[in-house]
Amino acid sequence: MDIIIRADAQEVGKEAAAVMAPFIKQGRTIGLATGSSPLTTYRELIRMYESGELTFKTIQAFLLDEYVGLARDDKNSYFRTIRDEFTAHVDFVDANVHSPDSTDPDPYHAAALYEQKIIDTGVAIQLLGVGVNGHIGFNEPTSALQGPTKVQALHPQTIKDNARFFNDCLEDVPTHAMTQGLGTITRAENIIMVATGEAKADAIHRIVEGPLTALCPGSVLQLHANVTLVVDEAAASRLEHADYYRTMEQIRLR
Ligand code: GLP
Repeated sequence: MDIIIRADAQEVGKEAAAVMAPFIKQGRTIGLATGSSPLTTYRELIRMYESGELTFKTIQAFLLDEYVGLARDDKNSYFRTIRDEFTAHVDFVDANVHSPDSTDPDPYHAAALYEQKIIDTGVAIQLLGVGVNGHIGFNEPTSALQGPTKVQALHPQTIKDNARFFNDCLEDVPTHAMTQGLGTITRAENIIMVATGEAKADAIHRIVEGPLTALCPGSVLQLHANVTLVVDEAAASRLEHADYYRTMEQIRLR
C-alpha cells in the first residue's frame, strides 16, 4: 500500500485527483464514492475540467453503493448526491453514471445485475472513503472479504453517522443499502482511498496496521497490489509507522 500523508483535506483532494487524472485522460472507467471524504477530490477534478486538463465526455463511472428504496432523483440518493457534488459540474453524461437500481422491487436481483455490469465493464480505478468502523462502500463489519454486490442492513452507528444528510432524523435514514461487495471493489485494477479527520484515525490504523479481518472491512485492501491511501495528519495520527511511510513516499519511483 502506498501511503501519502498530507497536511489537510485540501491537499488530500489534490493528491487523490492527481492519482486519478491519468486514468481519466486515457478514457478508463472509474469508480466513485459518496460521503464527505471525497469532496475535495471532486473539487480538484472539477478544477482540472474547468482548466481544460480533463474531460469526462466518454468516461463510464460506477457508484459504490445506493440506499434501497430511494429513487435516483431523491435528494438523498447517492446517484443524486454524486451528481450534485461532481458529475453535473463536469461534462459527464448521466447515462454513463451507473448505480444499483434501488427501486427494483427485488433488491437482490438488482444487486446481481449490477455485479454483472461491473464485471462486464471493469473498473480501472476506484475511489473510496471509509466509515469510522472501517467499512468501505456499505460493507459493514463481518462482510465477506471476497463477496459480490449485495444488500446490506445498516449498523445503527452507520445510520447515526449518515443522519446528518436526513435533517438528523434517524427514522428517515433507510435501513438497507445495496453496495459493491469487498470482492467487487477489490477487482478494480487500482484503488485510491481518502480519509481526513481524527474520527477516521482508528479505522486508518486498523486498515493499514491491523490484522486482515472482516471485522474491519477496509483491511481487505492489504490483499490488493495497487492501493494508494491518502490521509491528512489527523487521520494519520494513530499510525504507528508514520515515519516509515513518509520515508517510503520520498524514495518511491513515480
Ligand atoms: C457512507 C458511505 C461510504 C463512506 C462513509 C464515510 O457509509 N457508504 O462510502 O465512505 O459513509 O463517509 P464520510 O466520508 O462522510 O465520513
